[in-house]
Amino acid sequence: MTLFFSKAIVYSWFLWFVQCQNVNGIRQYHLSEISYTPQSRTIRGEQVPLEFYEAIERSDKKKNELQHRLHHFLENLQKNLTTSTVFRDFKPTASSSENYATKMSELSTFFHDASFAAGLFAHENERFYDVIKNSSYALLLKLRQVPAAQPTQVKTVLTNYFSEMEFFHIMFSEIVDEALEYTVGTLRAVQRIFLQFADVQSGILQDWKLKLDFECCKMYMDFLQYHSAQVFKCAAGRELNVAYDVYAMTKINAKYIMRQLEFRIQRLFNCFIFKKYEIRCQFLQNAERDFESLFNKLEELEMYLDIKTKQGRASDLRFHRQSYIQHDDVTTKSTEPLSDCLPPNFPFSQIKSELRSCFYLFGGK
Ligand SMILES: *[C@@H]1O[C@H](CO)[C@@H](O)[C@H](O)[C@H]1NC(C)=O
Ligand SMILES: *[C@@H]1O[C@H](CO)[C@@H](O)[C@H](O)[C@H]1NC(C)=O
Repeated sequence: MTLFFSKAIVYSWFLWFVQCQNVNGIRQYHLSEISYTPQSRTIRGEQVPLEFYEAIERSDKKKNELQHRLHHFLENLQKNLTTSTVFRDFKPTASSSENYATKMSELSTFFHDASFAAGLFAHENERFYDVIKNSSYALLLKLRQVPAAQPTQVKTVLTNYFSEMEFFHIMFSEIVDEALEYTVGTLRAVQRIFLQFADVQSGILQDWKLKLDFECCKMYMDFLQYHSAQVFKCAAGRELNVAYDVYAMTKINAKYIMRQLEFRIQRLFNCFIFKKYEIRCQFLQNAERDFESLFNKLEELEMYLDIKTKQGRASDLRFHRQSYIQHDDVTTKSTEPLSDCLPPNFPFSQIKSELRSCFYLFGGK
């Protein structure tokens, strides 16, 4: 956290140099973008880019699709690959071996589709995190639309306020990046593992030429069922659930933060429309205090990420790792998410000689 906060001071001071917009332009802006309800003077939230909400929707949709696809897999696996479903009146006839092949390719297709669904969610998730950062930046840019021609005193407090918001934007973006690294990293790993596993299966079916007698088919089915369950439990287990949680938490906080930023910008605009600085612009006097609750929110989110994704490892490990351990192959490998879900040298090391001899590829009996 300390390192995190110390990064920011560098960025400031640019806002006033950029442009002096004329007051008329600003008035038009207000009239077109801010609307009041007569009684309460509350303002409709129109500052957050529409894209932000669209990105949430798309990302949620892909998350639900993935969850739906993975739902009940273990039960279905159990149901689909049993002797009674696959081998009901199993005789070496064309139709029964066709049934066997269908069941086997359904399993491979499942992993293939699940991989695809994980990839889609990863993509939309990454996009959403990008849009969060962009939207936060877009809100920051709106501050530039406050007319620059202000009394010096006001200008000074405004400048402070801008730097505070910019500082916040930078911190916020960094935390979003942390969330991104975890969720997208995990989802990409799931995608890769499922695809690899599906490919291995279809490769075996196509090229290894299983002997189609009951013993061999049963043995291979048991083998596949066991490893499918293992791979699935590993890849779609704890880390994927943490990724869902991190995604949900980031989303909730991003929504909250966007609304809060929006509120601050609208309040600022109002305060300059009416030009009663002393009364309406009190918050400008102490920018730090005005942003305090938002920084607290960020800190909570960062703590949540720390606890969830690092499992009690010291949080400076991440910085340590990024700066020093890049070249250390062993460490880098072991930190790759889910790297051991597919057993090494699968399936060659796992297939016992009895099953191996069921394949013509290995000169089966
Ligand atoms: C189980 O069988 C159903 C019906 O044939 C199929 O749609 C589904 O993909 C199968 N699931 C697995 C995990 O093989
Ligand atoms: C976010 O902004 C960057 C830089 O302006 C841009 O390249 C990127 O396409 C934007 N991303 C999205 C999802 O809009």
